[in-house]
Amino acid sequence: MDRRLESEVMDDPDQVLAYAQANFESENQGFVEQFLELFDDLDEAHILDLGCGPGDIPIRLARQHATCRVTGVDASAPMIDWANRLTQEAGLQHRLTFLCRRFQDLTLDAPADALISNSLVHHVPNPLRFWFAVKSFMKPGGPVLVMDLLRPESEEEARALVDQYAAKESEQLRQDFFNSLLAAFTEDEVAAQLAELNLSRLMVDVPDDRHWIVYGRVY
Ligand SMILES: C[S@@+](CC[C@H](N)C(=O)[O-])C[C@H]1O[C@@H](n2cnc3c(N)ncnc32)[C@H](O)[C@@H]1O
Repeated sequence: MDRRLESEVMDDPDQVLAYAQANFESENQGFVEQFLELFDDLDEAHILDLGCGPGDIPIRLARQHATCRVTGVDASAPMIDWANRLTQEAGLQHRLTFLCRRFQDLTLDAPADALISNSLVHHVPNPLRFWFAVKSFMKPGGPVLVMDLLRPESEEEARALVDQYAAKESEQLRQDFFNSLLAAFTEDEVAAQLAELNLSRLMVDVPDDRHWIVYGRVY
């Protein structure tokens, strides 16, 4: 099945509300734990989170790692509003900063020590822009963990995944999940993107039936 693009920025109020109120605990907590297991040189690190959404991953990361700082970047103003609100409630505003910006327009005063991104790449029309940003924003040798959805072979398979993993979610979230699966990349496509940007030292893995991850150090 060919990739079918979905809208890039999530700024529709109903869509943002459905996403921000959904329970991504096991996925997001798993992502944070994997990042901390893979890399043990994050003391005082400045970590960039591209497409941070409502900030759940930066908040979990800051709770679990005592000294890192995170800058979350998202092009959606309502997502950034959620992230700021949840950060205030968590009392983490001294360690978490959020910017409402497309990552394609981002400039940094200094390169980041590490970079994470979950579920952004399928939104991006040209994924090479994303991998170029990963290279540009990082210190040499900086740790990277990127996770996203894996495009199934057919719409029927996508529907089955929605039924399996989002049976009890709102219709809005189920539709967004379906659209996201159709907009996602295959493992081979991700490997080709990395090769094109000379990032083949990064590892690509498929940890379950609906995700790929890319991890390693960017040189
Ligand atoms: C599916 S959400 C993932 C949010 C978060 N990373 C998480 O795991 O919960 C994808 C986010 O990427 C944002 N996004 C899409 N295109 C973007 C771009 N070009 N620059 C920055 N953010 C973008 C969307 O607005 C949305 O909030």
